[in-house]
Amino acid sequence: MSTKGKVIKCKAAIAWELGKPLCIEEVEVAPPKAHEVRIQIIATAVCHTDAHIIHPKSTESVFPVILGHEGAGIVESVGPGVTNFKPGDKVIPLYVPQCRKCKFCLSPLTNICVKLGSLENPLLGQKLMEDKTSRFTCKGKSVYHFLGTSTFSQYTVVSDANLSKIDDDVNLERVCLLGCGFSTGYGAAINTAKVTPGSTCAVFGLGSVGLSALIGCKVAGASRIIAIDINSEKFTKAKGLGATDCLNPRDLQKPIQEVIIEMTNGGVDFAFDCVGGFEVMKAALECTTVGWGSCTLIGVAMQNKELILSPLELLMGRTINGTLFGGWKSADSIPKLVTDYKNKKFNLDALVTSTLPFDKINEALDLILQGKSIRTILTF
Ligand code: APR
Ligand code: ZN
Repeated sequence: MSTKGKVIKCKAAIAWELGKPLCIEEVEVAPPKAHEVRIQIIATAVCHTDAHIIHPKSTESVFPVILGHEGAGIVESVGPGVTNFKPGDKVIPLYVPQCRKCKFCLSPLTNICVKLGSLENPLLGQKLMEDKTSRFTCKGKSVYHFLGTSTFSQYTVVSDANLSKIDDDVNLERVCLLGCGFSTGYGAAINTAKVTPGSTCAVFGLGSVGLSALIGCKVAGASRIIAIDINSEKFTKAKGLGATDCLNPRDLQKPIQEVIIEMTNGGVDFAFDCVGGFEVMKAALECTTVGWGSCTLIGVAMQNKELILSPLELLMGRTINGTLFGGWKSADSIPKLVTDYKNKKFNLDALVTSTLPFDKINEALDLILQGKSIRTILTF
């Protein structure tokens, strides 16, 4: 029996308050309105940003909310006016929308879109659909969306600007990673920093974002890639993906930037912060070479929101930039990344450390917080 036009009752993980485990609950998912699509989520991964948003000190959250932004699924039904999607299509929800109409979408210089809702902090936007209502209800309460995606639900509703159709013959348990971690790190190296063949790179933080940046450096032809993490257990995987040197700042007698400058005859060409936080950002900038060193910020600065730099570091020719979703124009780029994945340009298996049933979502959150996983894939 078709579910089109009807409310669907299904399973979702609800965050009711800060600092508490998610609760698996039955939710009601309303049908999609104009320019909206209802999707059955098949697989979703847990990203550090999902954990960050419910951290006891987080100031960006509203409750109750359904988190999750790294998922893949199948279109169940579409609302009026939707032309690009039909039931049965395999899709990836996009937390960076692409409306194709705003000044950012019309510029080739950025992948930002005005539909992010907040241009100051994307985590503050897309908590409701465009008509300022939610499609989720639980125990009689309206539940907030998260980043326009909310993939921690068996069914979700997204705007048709937050969705990309992909080929039918792909494994959703792998390509869900294109929804955030992989595309963000990989694109930071390829699109934002534009890593050049033969260059020297430093990648700080070897989670899914950092390892994907490392893959990007390797694909771009970097000849030396220095991988940095305070957890030495991450080094085996980093070496397997192309790291030539691995450093644990806690094992060193000097600041990490000094060690890298010594190792590289004055600093690296490209550095990536895939951790977040002031100290790592500063170290990433300072380990780049005078003259042309480029530092790309990817990690979300958690508690400390400010970055204090000496202007001289920039006057001496270094540049610092940042990236959201790796600079990819989201809807246009996901199908191309899927093709590259199918052509084995990069391997997503390396990023998957476990697959668990959706009900074990809190276990997956604990694993990432304890540094024991890269990505856990949850299946319904
Ligand atoms: N120096 C080097 N590495 C560090 C440091 C530090 N001071 N502090 C933490 N790390 C390492 C952790 O040990 C971990 O391996 O950074 C890595 C972060 O990886 P994950 O927690 O798996 O996070 P990931 O999903 O890759 O996201 C990285 O990007 O999207 C943002 O909010 C996200 O800020 C986070 C970052
Ligand atoms: Zn736009």
